[in-house]
Amino acid sequence: MKILITGGAGFLGRRLALALLARGSLAAANGVEAIDKLVLLDHVEAAPLDDERVESVKGDVADADLLDELIDTDTGVIFHLAAVVSGQAEAEFDLGMRINLDASRRLLETCRHRSHCPRVVFTSSVAVYGGALPDVVRDDTALEPRSSYGVEKAIAELLLGEYTRRGFVDGRALRLPTVSVRPGRPNQAASSFASGIIREPLKGERAACPVDADTRLWLMSPRVAVDSLVHGAELDAAALGANRSLNLSGLSVTVGEMVAALGRVAGEDAVSRVVFEADERVRRIVGGWPGAWDTTRAVALGFPEHTSFDDVIREHLRDGRA
Ligand SMILES: NC(=O)c1ccc[n+]([C@@H]2O[C@H](COP(=O)([O-])OP(=O)(O)OC[C@H]3O[C@@H](n4cnc5c(N)ncnc54)[C@H](O)[C@@H]3O)[C@@H](O)[C@H]2O)c1
Repeated sequence: MKILITGGAGFLGRRLALALLARGSLAAANGVEAIDKLVLLDHVEAAPLDDERVESVKGDVADADLLDELIDTDTGVIFHLAAVVSGQAEAEFDLGMRINLDASRRLLETCRHRSHCPRVVFTSSVAVYGGALPDVVRDDTALEPRSSYGVEKAIAELLLGEYTRRGFVDGRALRLPTVSVRPGRPNQAASSFASGIIREPLKGERAACPVDADTRLWLMSPRVAVDSLVHGAELDAAALGANRSLNLSGLSVTVGEMVAALGRVAGEDAVSRVVFEADERVRRIVGGWPGAWDTTRAVALGFPEHTSFDDVIREHLRDGRA
């Protein structure tokens, strides 16, 4: 089987590629199949992966001709991760619409014209929610996104559901909580601080926190994120039913609780490097996202769960610094 990962050079895309290569096979429509080819599409150069099953393609996910070339009837599973992150989509409206929405539709159209109904795993986000949220946010709670990124993700989810209903693809829109701790440098996601306030102090650097200590976040570790994407691809379509959008499991913690966990794992020196500097732009975007949601369906479907945020920090110390 051939697998395509769009955004394959990114943070989750690369980790997902490594996980798939290590597994060697994936359960899809025709049962468990060996992964013969893994195509990584990204508009930036992917760090090389020394594996003959990998083909890295540098290109634009919004390029219809390129998608036409890359997706063929051997493509059993597509992980559609390529995206412009929340802060950038808010700052650059046209870019966000082109990559997060238009390219997603183009990818689905390409699949439709192949007529072989591949599994498409789409990475959606907490950002699809917003406005006055009920106490318990469920998979089917009305989506009222309050950011361009959230709107683009929500529309792409609807399209995925419709292309699934029509039998063009077998879609799974997985709503990821904010992934923390993300290694490397800060990015343009509004939630970038959710990793920065742990990652930077662990490196001995100061980290600015743009929201208050009582801000509640809904988080997921990189390992649980990747395991969830794989699990989402392998799930039987019948188990998913008609609603293909799923709220994945997460950890509900306040920023203050995150900093306390940092203290328990790395000591008070690390805590002293976190400095609260309010940023209204970030507060506005992140403050509208749910700090938790109901995960009954994800748990029943066997998606992985977390233990504690202390363990998430330990995961970062162990294998997250790549
Ligand atoms: N990391 C999180 O906290 C989080 C939370 C919820 C949802 N998500 C979603 O998960 C997915 C992966 O996130 P990530 O954290 O790995 O982000 P990332 O920014 O590291 O990866 C996205 C990749 O998409 C690529 N890309 C952007 N524009 C492109 C284009 N025009 N053509 C080809 N490639 C392009 C980027 O180069 C990047 O490598 C995204 O869809 C994101 O919206 C992430």
